[in-house]
Amino acid sequence: MFNKKPHISCLISAGPTREWIDPVRFLSNPSSGKMGYALAETARDLGMKVTLVSGPVSIPTPEGMEVIKVETANEMKSAMLSTFDNANLIIMCAAVSDHRPAKYTESKIVKDQFPSHLELARNPDILKHLGGLKKIDQVLVGFAAETKEVLLSAKKKLVEKNLDWIIANDVSNEQGGFSNDKNEVILIGSGGQEHPFALDDKQIIAQKLLNVIYPSCIEKAR
Ligand code: PMT
Repeated sequence: MFNKKPHISCLISAGPTREWIDPVRFLSNPSSGKMGYALAETARDLGMKVTLVSGPVSIPTPEGMEVIKVETANEMKSAMLSTFDNANLIIMCAAVSDHRPAKYTESKIVKDQFPSHLELARNPDILKHLGGLKKIDQVLVGFAAETKEVLLSAKKKLVEKNLDWIIANDVSNEQGGFSNDKNEVILIGSGGQEHPFALDDKQIIAQKLLNVIYPSCIEKAR
């Protein structure tokens, strides 16, 4: 039928990555997965086919979607690439560690031998890589977790990573950002449009974000 909505496949990353130093220590960050999981559940409820790529979190695994569990940034990159080609909407909500220890030590480093400086290696920028692969019918969305010059930095990432939308997230906000149940964000489009969403439950923020983003996917997928 002429006006029938195209079926949208959605790929979302959530949670932190863990970059292991030895079998008992890792580099990571406080992402709980709540924001990314709320987006995945909202996308599912809107009728999208959802693949969720998740770092280690302690919240329940959602029903009604494929969930790929990963730990490191390199594993997350492989998982995202395995589904990327078939996705219409891709949202990178994960807090990916930009660095990993240059060397993994197979057995626990005893306290007295723990180095005072850790040599680090750069992790891949997954979103930037996806931005380079993006096809005309795909909508690519990133987050920008910032503590200062939030809008400016978000707009820079929007362009540098070839995104359609970026969600500016001031993570210095004590009631939002990492780990909290609530968030306050500004959705910015590649055309310069700005949609501020005041502090609310992450589920409500997810609905408000997808209310704007989803129609742009339908438009591109037609
Ligand atoms: O999980 P919660 O506790 O609910 O917290 C939610 C959140 C704060 C983690 C989330 O709202 C958020 O802001 N996620 C993005 C975190 C982040 O890594 O931001 P960034 O500004 O450093 O990175 C910019 C974008 O590039 C992000 O989409 C990120 O997923 C992506 N990135 C970053 C580094 C990297 N090596 N590869 C990437 O793909």
